[in-house]
Amino acid sequence: MLDLITEKLAILNQTHLLKFYNELDNSKQKKLLKQIDCLDLSVLDEKILNNKRGTFSPPFAMSIDEIERKKDYYIRIGLQAVRDGKIGAVLLAGGQGSRLGFEKPKGMFNIGINKELYIFECLINNILEVVREAGAWIPLFIMTSTQNDHDTKAFFEEHNYFGYSKANIMFFVQEQFPTIDLNGKLMLSDKGTVSTAPNGNGGWYSSMVRSGVFKILKDNKLEWLNVFAVDNVLQKIADPCFIGAVIDSGSSSGSKVVAKAAPDERVGVMCLEDGKPSIVEYYEMTDEMLNSREPDGSLSYNYGVILNYLFRISDLDKALKIKLPIHKAFKKINYIDENGNYQNPDEPNAYKFETLVLDMVKIQDSCLAFEVDRKREFAPVKNKTGVDSVESARELLKLNNIEI
Ligand code: UTP
Repeated sequence: MLDLITEKLAILNQTHLLKFYNELDNSKQKKLLKQIDCLDLSVLDEKILNNKRGTFSPPFAMSIDEIERKKDYYIRIGLQAVRDGKIGAVLLAGGQGSRLGFEKPKGMFNIGINKELYIFECLINNILEVVREAGAWIPLFIMTSTQNDHDTKAFFEEHNYFGYSKANIMFFVQEQFPTIDLNGKLMLSDKGTVSTAPNGNGGWYSSMVRSGVFKILKDNKLEWLNVFAVDNVLQKIADPCFIGAVIDSGSSSGSKVVAKAAPDERVGVMCLEDGKPSIVEYYEMTDEMLNSREPDGSLSYNYGVILNYLFRISDLDKALKIKLPIHKAFKKINYIDENGNYQNPDEPNAYKFETLVLDMVKIQDSCLAFEVDRKREFAPVKNKTGVDSVESARELLKLNNIEI
């Protein structure tokens, strides 16, 4: 095995990963070789990182007014789908939450002031509303990362799953991508471990398949998955109105969207890319796109995504066949230097790589953009203070009469 791995690394110009191999005991040596053998090295391929975009044009979105007019009809369809066992939910909780600077999994953050109210608890309270209305449990799949899996599971157990049915919660761990330094070299996080980081929220589907959890979906005859982020404490999960509208539209997916707060708000927006529903990130938009307006005065690219999607399961296999683009982010990453010393840099020093769930929209045949009221459904906890912060989320919770 050592020879094979040495050869593989030599071809990639990465033999430094074995620099401390002889200092490791037998079991650590085996572990390192196995890890290297299983590493997803696609991040070393510059071609994959080149996410070439098509031609953008303004999208269609179902507006709040339009939804309001058919609300009861959509809710009936959505609730029936829940009762028929067609709906599952996927909580993406494998992120590192570095902007919040909370060392535990983000869902364990206490957003309460006068009482304890954890982010995970807010989400469970939200999904429980639908469970009660429908009179049926919704299977909830929770994606964790290698780094936070243990803490997350222990926290749910300790809090008795916040009143959810334990039998309807399934955890799975997302996969990792290696990190790379500024010289294009893979890194060691200790002498016997290659440095890796969670592979982004786009990894949910392939990780679900690989973990075996996906078999449960097929066996249970689920048809739709509502995929959502951990950090929006007003997140409506398995929202019957959204589900009903997507099913009624005949689309293979749906995305909740909110009207942008300002033309330059830093949010990904729905668009058409080469005529197909897609999402363009704020930093990919030209000034002209940011400020372009329709004849009625509204922004042409007005609908920001809030990481709440509905995917038809039978259409998801495409996501495995088509490789999602890999995005790279410059981050602070601890490592072992060439002398074997542990380094904990103060500034970003290396790249981590991620696939994004928003890139899955583009490979669906169709996607219904479904507008929701941001004051009622969008309270992201990204930062400690300022925009999208603990403070702003608390204000929005109060506005929605949620006791904190
Ligand atoms: P963010 O893009 O906010 O990333 O994740 P993050 O890692 O949580 O936070 P920062 O950027 O370090 O501050 C959006 C959603 O995607 C999930 C997060 O848990 C959150 O629900 N996510 C992100 C994953 O599940 N896995 C990942 O690898 C990245």
